[in-house]
Amino acid sequence: MIDAIRSALSAVLNDNQIASVRETNGKVLVTVAVAVGMAEKPAFAEKIKAAARKVEGVKDVFVSFQDTQAAAPAPDGQAAQAGPPQQPGPSPIVGIGRIVAVGAGKGGVGKSTVAVNLAIALANQGKRVGLLDADIHGPSAAIMTGTVDHRATGDAQQRVIPATAHGLQVISIAFLMPKDQAAVIWRGPMVGKMVTQLLTGVAWGELDYLIVDLPPGTGDAVLSLSQTVPLDGAIVVTTPQDVALADVEKAIEMFSSVKVPVVGVIENMAGFSCPECGHLSHIFMTGAGDKAAKKYGLPLLGSLPLDAEVPPSGDGGVPITVSKPESNTASAFVEIAQITHERIEAIAGKGAAQFDLGWSSGA
Ligand SMILES: Nc1ncnc2c1ncn2[C@@H]1O[C@H](COP(=O)(O)OP(=O)(O)OP(=O)(O)O)[C@@H](O)[C@H]1O
Ligand SMILES: [Mg+2]
Repeated sequence: MIDAIRSALSAVLNDNQIASVRETNGKVLVTVAVAVGMAEKPAFAEKIKAAARKVEGVKDVFVSFQDTQAAAPAPDGQAAQAGPPQQPGPSPIVGIGRIVAVGAGKGGVGKSTVAVNLAIALANQGKRVGLLDADIHGPSAAIMTGTVDHRATGDAQQRVIPATAHGLQVISIAFLMPKDQAAVIWRGPMVGKMVTQLLTGVAWGELDYLIVDLPPGTGDAVLSLSQTVPLDGAIVVTTPQDVALADVEKAIEMFSSVKVPVVGVIENMAGFSCPECGHLSHIFMTGAGDKAAKKYGLPLLGSLPLDAEVPPSGDGGVPITVSKPESNTASAFVEIAQITHERIEAIAGKGAAQFDLGWSSGA
């Protein structure tokens, strides 16, 4: 099938622009060595996808761009080689069912909290779940799962063995960094490369879900990451205030620009859950998540209360779904996990092309 795909791609690419073509169960990953501006990438990727989809048996196509500019200095301070990197691009990962990212338009809204607790809630529902902490600014998901001190060791095939915690397999960028690593300025392509390594060079085994905790923002690094990881869907987290609406829209539009279907929106800190009696009071304005979801024709996957138990449970490495499984917050995660699962299956069943049409008409 690879030969047929290569031949179909010749309609839009020269031979020397195709760095690699990989295929697993109809999922195809095309890595191209073409210098294209960030703004032109989505349209160019579409042309490549359309060409590859013409080949019989191709179900899904992912396009990854190699950086053909002179590379920035590597994070360890050594000069990176100029010219196209020789590393192969990422491929759809054998053994991993669905890859779902958790993102937002801005920092601090609870992405890591959602990623970790959603992963645990899915595992509690019998799914085999991995958690990839892709935050380059700080290993929140690793801290929240109590795995931050884990250091990577390899198996016989030189693949990194994940840490295990709360029924999850956990991998963090932090596991591969020296402990005293000073702040590093990460550019998009470097992040992409590191995450590719974390995806493909890890002994994940069989997983139903891989949940990816994204760094804050919708900038270069996050965009590059969203293009590197063959994502099946993305969840957008927001706070409920009206002022957050613009941030949600930014995140939704970013995922749309790289053709990642948005699974839905989660409103976090959407009311106060009293630690004494469990009563829920809506002390903030509400509805930004709901409004954004409606505007884009997306479901609101759930609302999570502001819960005083969340920060200490996260900091202590025992997330709320484990430390207080009877709480309002943990119950909300049980529902969110169920809805997310149903929604992901519905999206996968429709296929990406139909899905794009469906949700862009909701605006
Ligand atoms: N529902 C909640 N109730 C109370 N505190 C919360 C809730 N959700 C998150 N927090 C707290 O808010 C802080 C930020 O949460 P978190 O780290 O999950 O956000 P983030 O979006 O991943 O941040 P960043 O953009 O820095 O990655 C943490 O201290 C966390 O414990
Ligand atoms: Mg985070």
